[in-house]
Amino acid sequence: MATRTTLVDKSLTILRAGQSPNGAIVACPRFSVYGYCWFRDGAFVAQALDLWGEHATARRFYDWAARTVVENADDARAALAHVATTRLVGRVPPSRYLHTRYMVDGTVGKDDWPNFQLDGFGTLLWGMVEHLRLTRTSSVPTIWEAAIDLLVAYLATLWPVPNFDCWEEFPDEIHVSTLSTLYGGLQAVATKTNDSRAAKAANNIRSFVVGHITDGGYLPKFVGSRAVDASLIWACIPFGMFDVGHPVMERTVEKIEEDLQDADGGVHRYAADSYYGGGQWILLTGLLAEYLLRRGAGVRAAAMAGWLEDQATSEGAFPEQIPRNLSVPEMYEPWLERWGPIASPLLWSHAAYLRLKCFLS
Ligand code: BGC
Repeated sequence: MATRTTLVDKSLTILRAGQSPNGAIVACPRFSVYGYCWFRDGAFVAQALDLWGEHATARRFYDWAARTVVENADDARAALAHVATTRLVGRVPPSRYLHTRYMVDGTVGKDDWPNFQLDGFGTLLWGMVEHLRLTRTSSVPTIWEAAIDLLVAYLATLWPVPNFDCWEEFPDEIHVSTLSTLYGGLQAVATKTNDSRAAKAANNIRSFVVGHITDGGYLPKFVGSRAVDASLIWACIPFGMFDVGHPVMERTVEKIEEDLQDADGGVHRYAADSYYGGGQWILLTGLLAEYLLRRGAGVRAAAMAGWLEDQATSEGAFPEQIPRNLSVPEMYEPWLERWGPIASPLLWSHAAYLRLKCFLS
């Protein structure tokens, strides 16, 4: 087990405190629009908990997620029926589908939200299989089986449909980071359960991505784009569509460093980001540091972990982003007025820190 520092302990305490008795994990307890449980944030948080041996907390999350997927199976089936009848013609998303976030009691939220996002389900499948691996569990828990089965069918069919990206933007595009999560989840299930549908879909997704590598040799933010997004690192870590040393990853990360990393180490989401002006994201700085560590640049990775630690508040809370070197500075105040101060503590930021610390020690 890796070394527990004060900030590691505080992070684990914050993650545990974010879990409801039913297992749902809130994205941020002190930011009203984030008072929901996202499959994406929750799975990253649960995986970080698993890495630090907090398996019971992680298990409660996955049980909640499995129940929530199954309880909303009719929406998933409606989306599948929509695609079957329209044969993916047009760019209109189905009108009923699984939501990206649910209220922490598992019910469907009433707020208007860009809910048609697929990446969280790939991350969830990957996280479930990771949980089984880290707890050395050979059989899939019964309560998860129906959810996994439904999600494999859902993702194997819907992956080519444009949907909101992991930042809940650009609904008309096909996002390579999203495809990376879907590949990771489907491939994990295929390996664990020999599910041939999952294996075939994962292969198709990878071939599609390979067919859309830019002429610069790097992965694009979305099909047809020439920009990068720091979340593209997911294509290797943790979702394994490419090896960390694959030339396309090297080129992609070089471009992320050139376009999105500041001199102090902080990493932006993408060059035109205007959310709270587009600051430096804790979870992406942690992700790039993890990549560098895997490529043998341990000194740089440790320095970036130090950068992360410098951003924590005196209570040990990590925000979502640091409003520094803003990409679109004039958009900082409007977001502040609209939703208040930047979300903090953001549980996903803590999860990224915990992952990095686990692998650094
Ligand atoms: C981010 C999402 C995240 C959500 C909750 C949004 O602003 O773009 O990636 O899931 O916040 O943390």
